[in-house]
Amino acid sequence: MKKHLYSIFLCFLFVNFANAKSFEILNPIDKSVYDDKFATLSLKINDFSLQRVTILLNNFRKFEVNLGKYRDVYCISLDLRLGKNIIEVTSYKDNKKIDDQNISLYLRSEIFEGYNEEPTGYKKQFFHTTKHEKLCSSCHNMEPDFKALKTKVLKASDIASRDLNILQNPEDSNCYTCHKKLTTRKNGHAPSVNFLCTECHTGKTGEFNIDLKGKSKYIQPDPIMSRCFSCHEGIEKRWMSNKSEHGPLRTGRCNKCHNPHSSANEFHLRKPIWKLCTTCHSEKAKGEHVIASFVKGKTHPTRGRPDPARPGRELVCSGCHNPHGSNGIFLLRTEGQTAYSVCTRCHQYNSSVKK
Ligand code: HEC
Ligand code: HEC
Ligand code: HEC
Ligand code: HEC
Ligand code: HEC
Ligand code: HEC
Ligand code: HEC
Ligand code: HEC
Repeated sequence: MKKHLYSIFLCFLFVNFANAKSFEILNPIDKSVYDDKFATLSLKINDFSLQRVTILLNNFRKFEVNLGKYRDVYCISLDLRLGKNIIEVTSYKDNKKIDDQNISLYLRSEIFEGYNEEPTGYKKQFFHTTKHEKLCSSCHNMEPDFKALKTKVLKASDIASRDLNILQNPEDSNCYTCHKKLTTRKNGHAPSVNFLCTECHTGKTGEFNIDLKGKSKYIQPDPIMSRCFSCHEGIEKRWMSNKSEHGPLRTGRCNKCHNPHSSANEFHLRKPIWKLCTTCHSEKAKGEHVIASFVKGKTHPTRGRPDPARPGRELVCSGCHNPHGSNGIFLLRTEGQTAYSVCTRCHQYNSSVKK
């Protein structure tokens, strides 16, 4: 009887061993959906005799994991492209392939056509849960802990209505260790580059994502508008008094047009202004609409010229329209109640451009 038990035990061990891969992917979960372009690949090495582990992103970017003798977890931040991304991890021993695992991630965007929604089978996943954080907490501090760090004050300005207590060295934030890439695009948004992440990632859900309650301790309200207004109070007052507001604002999703972390474009926009506007209003690109009620079949520039009313800036759609709201008709940057009233922003009455 004893012998019999022993062999069952051995067998169990054997099966288990045969199934154990030489590495595991701790994060991301296969078929996850992303909204910003950075994903963290975390690998756990189970077999310390491996010689090489390689990571191949979208079949063209290759990374070699710098294996150390006693370390079991390796982490790397990867840049995703819009749509599907394939990450392939391969391990080698004695120049032979041992294991190979693929995962697929989807980067979506509401303002890039063809990528508005994830294909079926893909799902938004959340990382900051007790279960997942445990995988990292032996080496990383997982709490937003500023108490021991040196801070300074970023004064309120025309743009933001309140003083912000920020770190002297944002790199000291433990969020920085894992999320530094989020703020590396040319124009960083102040609360993000200063790692005041929890100003928006309050852990509380909003009216549209109440069903996500408790999914992550750093979830942000959706719509995010109330968080934006907590600092951009002046803008809130101005908008609330506008007679009309722009459609996309009605949902309170400021992040549709603005990237809350950082962006390559001015005003932290997800696309350059003209491209952003013509994403949803392509028929207005030529500018026929500007003068259609005065002359038929002629066009008016909508870009590529200096804007006489905004020195140093290019004429774009937002030179004539306020993208948020206005007291005039058609969101025009005028109080007047006719389309003509906006012309004098840039033209003298004889129609030549103001110098
Ligand atoms: C064994 C210790 C250890 C564990 C466990 C660990 N990390 Fe790391 N991690 C590090 C070290 C050390 C660094 C600094 C960079 C380096 O040497 O790889 C780092 C860096 C990172 C980075 C920055 C990588 C980059 O390219 O900038 C990310 C992201 C990261 N870790 C995520 C995670 C996640 C997620 C987990 C849990 C699933 C985790 N780490 C678990 C040790 C660990
Ligand atoms: C050990 C690394 C690590 C640290 C430290 C860390 N994060 Fe994360 N965080 C991740 C990973 C991994 C994800 C999943 C997305 C990805 O693949 O990068 C994530 C996702 C998030 C998300 C998206 C929601 C979610 O739960 O998936 C938010 C918001 C976030 N982190 C905020 C923070 C803040 C704020 C801090 C500092 C208090 C912080 N993180 C510290 C690794 C880390
Ligand atoms: C001004 C508000 C704001 C601040 C500040 C902010 N975030 Fe976010 N964050 C958002 C919103 C809104 C989203 C939802 C996705 C989007 O709009 O791109 C988001 C999404 C995320 C995600 C998920 C991205 C994905 O691919 O799905 C992570 C991770 C994240 N934030 C981390 C951080 C970290 C770390 C900080 C601090 C450096 C930070 N955020 C600061 C508003 C903010
Ligand atoms: C914690 C305070 C805070 C929150 C919350 C916040 N902002 Fe900001 N924001 C600032 C500060 C400070 C600046 C000025 C410095 C800069 O340009 O980054 C700024 C700048 C901006 C600018 C650039 C203005 C310009 O004239 O260049 C835009 C656009 C912006 N924020 C949009 C948003 C949006 C959208 C949200 C919500 C998703 C938001 N902000 C939430 C503090 C905040
Ligand atoms: C339809 C796209 C769109 C949406 C949605 C949007 N913005 Fe903007 N925002 C813009 C554009 C475009 C500019 C640059 C305007 C210009 O040319 O001066 C801008 C500029 C700004 C500025 C800079 C200062 C100013 O007054 O122009 C702030 C701050 C700002 N937006 C905050 C927000 C907040 C907060 C929300 C959500 C309530 C929001 N935006 C929603 C497109 C948008
Ligand atoms: C995400 C899609 C989207 C983007 C991006 C967008 N718009 Fe719109 N816009 C709409 C929708 C939807 C409406 C109609 C909303 C409504 O019911 O008022 C609209 C309406 C308008 C109107 C007519 C308002 C009226 O009172 O009749 C103007 C003008 C306008 N947008 C200008 C712009 C400009 C300028 C930009 C770039 C800064 C822009 N839009 C970017 C979706 C968008
Ligand atoms: C030189 C000023 C000017 C520029 C630049 C301009 N517009 Fe307009 N826009 C107007 C005027 C004036 C009207 C009102 C036209 C009318 O009387 O029907 C208008 C009306 C609109 C309307 C509402 C009209 C409708 O038919 O629903 C939209 C949407 C719009 N513009 C979008 C844009 C977009 C997108 C751009 C950039 C590609 C742009 N505009 C550039 C002046 C301008
Ligand atoms: C934001 C500034 C701005 C506004 C507002 C504006 N324009 Fe213009 N307009 C321009 C610029 C810039 C040009 C190009 C001048 C050049 O090519 O040197 C132009 C050119 C023109 C031309 C062609 C003139 C020529 O010499 O070929 C006409 C006609 C015109 N605009 C009419 C209008 C009318 C009508 C309105 C009001 C509905 C208007 N514009 C509003 C900036 C503006």
